[in-house]
Amino acid sequence: MIGKLNHIAIAVPDLGKATEFYHDILGARVSDPLDLPEHGVTTVFVELENTKLELLFPLGENSPIAAFLQKNSAGGIHHFCLEVEDIDAAIEQAKAHDIRILGNGSAKIGAHGKPVIFIHPKDALGCLVEFEEC
Ligand code: CO
Repeated sequence: MIGKLNHIAIAVPDLGKATEFYHDILGARVSDPLDLPEHGVTTVFVELENTKLELLFPLGENSPIAAFLQKNSAGGIHHFCLEVEDIDAAIEQAKAHDIRILGNGSAKIGAHGKPVIFIHPKDALGCLVEFEEC
């Protein structure tokens, strides 16, 4: 069911410094910041040859990464994203195995304009896993 690793997401306390770290020091290609109000984050993508890093910074009052950054003040790995061909089939497969989907249980549009869901970490070996339809 799952395909490629699409990205690894890192929550960061300072988006400008994090972008400088990857762009100016490590020499990576980085995107412009993109606000995703529906997800409560601002994202910057670091383009690597075989995958991407997604730098996440809280946006708005109820950002899902605000508490994470309170516990991890230097930032840290927040989730990883695996590609799926059919997000609705992935949702059905997860539900059939009592794997909980965060939010209202249906897909939202993610940072690449494609449908995404998040699987509950307690049902995914302690990792927050995102599926993106690609
Ligand atoms: Co992501």
